Amino acid sequence: MTTVITYGTFDLFHVGHVRLLKRLSQLGDQLIVGISSDEFNLLKGKSSFFSYEERAEIVESCKYVTSVFPEHDWQQKREDIVKYGADIFAMGDDWKGKFDDLSDLCEVVYLTRTEDVSTTKIKKSLSKIDVEELDRIESSLHDVISIVKSLSLK
Ligand code: CTP
Repeated sequence: MTTVITYGTFDLFHVGHVRLLKRLSQLGDQLIVGISSDEFNLLKGKSSFFSYEERAEIVESCKYVTSVFPEHDWQQKREDIVKYGADIFAMGDDWKGKFDDLSDLCEVVYLTRTEDVSTTKIKKSLSKIDVEELDRIESSLHDVISIVKSLSLK
């Protein structure tokens, strides 16, 4: 039985997450995912749209995932690898080289990220839509005000 372990925030679950989890599951028989707690996210300077409970529920419902657990701090990985009997520790290659010190406990693997999608990118493009929408509303309001003014002058 080969156990694979990975970690992440997995906010606004997207296709990059699905593809990574699919490839990770193909490395072994079971895939265990550590999900950053809300407090740990704050420590990393991140704030997620979905709460830990919601993100854990979403990731756990993915057919490639065996089970999930909370990640509270940077230090717990060594303990988790032993606790879950992980044979492979794997992350996307944005973390390349960062966890090589764990290789005395298990195999450490970095997989290529899916291009052009990330939670940050989704958040940015959604907030852009909001600003554009506000601009349109503002300009419509100016039109209405002009019409009302011109009517009251008559
Ligand atoms: N990941 C991936 N391909 C992507 C985005 C993420 O393979 N396009 C992987 C990351 O490398 C990581 C895992 O998914 O191993 C969880 O990443 P996470 O940081 O939660 O997702 P991001 O979309 O990268 O989030 P953010 O923009 O907030 O960093």
